[in-house]
Amino acid sequence: MATKTSSETTKNKTAAKTTVKTATTKTATAKAAPKTAATRTVKKTVVKSVEKKKILFVASEATPFIQTGGLAEVIGSLSKALAANDNLDVRVVLPLYSDIKKSDRDKFSYIGNIYVHLAWRNQYCGIFEYVKDGVTFYFIDNEFYFKRPGCYGYFDDGERFAFFSRSVLEIMPVINFYPDIMHCHDWQAALAAIYLKTNYCFRPEYQFIRALFTIHNIEYQGWYSLDLLSDLFDIYGSYQYLVEYKNCINLMKGAIECCERFSTVSPRYAGEIKEEYFAHGLDPIVRKNHFKLSGILNGIDDEGYNCEKDTHLFANYTPDDFSNKALCKKGLQKLLGLPQKADTPIISMVSRLVSHKGLDLVTTVIEELLQDDVQVVILGTGDAHFEGFFSDLARRYPDKFSANIAFNGDLSRKIYSGSDIFLMPSKSEPCGLSQMIACRYGTVPIVRETGGLYDSIKPLENGYTFANYNAHDMLYVIRQAVNDYKNKEEWKELMYRAATTDFSWNRSAKLYEALYFDMLK
Ligand code: GLC
Repeated sequence: MATKTSSETTKNKTAAKTTVKTATTKTATAKAAPKTAATRTVKKTVVKSVEKKKILFVASEATPFIQTGGLAEVIGSLSKALAANDNLDVRVVLPLYSDIKKSDRDKFSYIGNIYVHLAWRNQYCGIFEYVKDGVTFYFIDNEFYFKRPGCYGYFDDGERFAFFSRSVLEIMPVINFYPDIMHCHDWQAALAAIYLKTNYCFRPEYQFIRALFTIHNIEYQGWYSLDLLSDLFDIYGSYQYLVEYKNCINLMKGAIECCERFSTVSPRYAGEIKEEYFAHGLDPIVRKNHFKLSGILNGIDDEGYNCEKDTHLFANYTPDDFSNKALCKKGLQKLLGLPQKADTPIISMVSRLVSHKGLDLVTTVIEELLQDDVQVVILGTGDAHFEGFFSDLARRYPDKFSANIAFNGDLSRKIYSGSDIFLMPSKSEPCGLSQMIACRYGTVPIVRETGGLYDSIKPLENGYTFANYNAHDMLYVIRQAVNDYKNKEEWKELMYRAATTDFSWNRSAKLYEALYFDMLK
């Protein structure tokens, strides 16, 4: 194991004490009950907080601490939206990656540490806490597993997230929080649901915890060799049937089997993952468990993405007055070295550069498109093949195409606000947030009708859509939009409708709440 940080070492020494202290305080509170007016008030408050339903999110990333994709945004913004509800006590557990900024880490309080057993392993697990926007975040500290750049992509990811998932269950007595609902997200948290049902639910404190498993992308399932069943994942042979799939361990399959309910991030995708084309092999499992499945469309943090207030923009504007959006466009063109032409539409993409985002369609017709009077801007990282293709294209069309091979939050907001049309032609898209963000900035999306893109963008109401995964169908719709863009008045109305579509969490957070309460019946 890597050496502990100095704060970790000092704090370790007090860990046992901290735990005991918490327990003592709790007992003391419970015993003291003289019936004075003052204590009656205290008692009332305690009863009220006990009545709140306790929700624990288990996830591998969350804004504002650590982000590689849309999952983090959903964990950060959904937990905040749910916590605004008086009925819910919402908490989130995350790994303490070394990529979490020091300025954030300095604010976290150390709660204690335990050792977590997993098969023959016995690993240090430090627990840190931080409360933000009404949500309590816990961070699981183990430098051997999490003191590395990035979040994923290591040979031992299975072991890292098994440790994380096991720790989530083991810290419950320390943080004194046994949730009513343990809401696990994606394969990295699948084992928390599996361990709950295989190891923990026989203990009285754990027996009423219900597990909800949310699939943000069915492509990433956590496939492992069956040899690792007991040696790595510490699952008894009698439970092999829960996680075994196609002669391997499949953690997502295990979570679907073990949880009381599972969900995905749009109603359309909930239907799609029952089909072979979308399910990456899991469709029989989804169909078998269909009675537990629901689809709830993600929202976005509409305060965080607000063209009136966003300080990253070259200028601010409102849906009622888009005039300053022209300054955003000019600033973007200048920044990216494109000619500052006000009337040439900028078509943008902010995306991971991987095939299922529809990049095969883009690479097929982009040169044809670049013959028209348009500028195209791409931001993202991903497969070397696409990064190379777009970098080369930018060298050949310096006045029309800008490739930005990076993950850059500031530039993404400048692109969302400074462009006119946002392209998202995904082959499959569980929900997609970028099309919603683009709308918030009055940038009209063109999407393929799949998953959450289908559920959020309606043709000519707030964007353009095409149905078939076909490059020329896409090009046809892009040209239609570019043509419509010339009609300034109608275009402004379309921008207005896009910018004022309600993508806040208001509706969807209520649907999650209803699902939680339904699970607790
Ligand atoms: C994944 C999906 C994306 C979804 C996001 C948040 O990144 O690919 O479609 O919006 O998770 O749920």
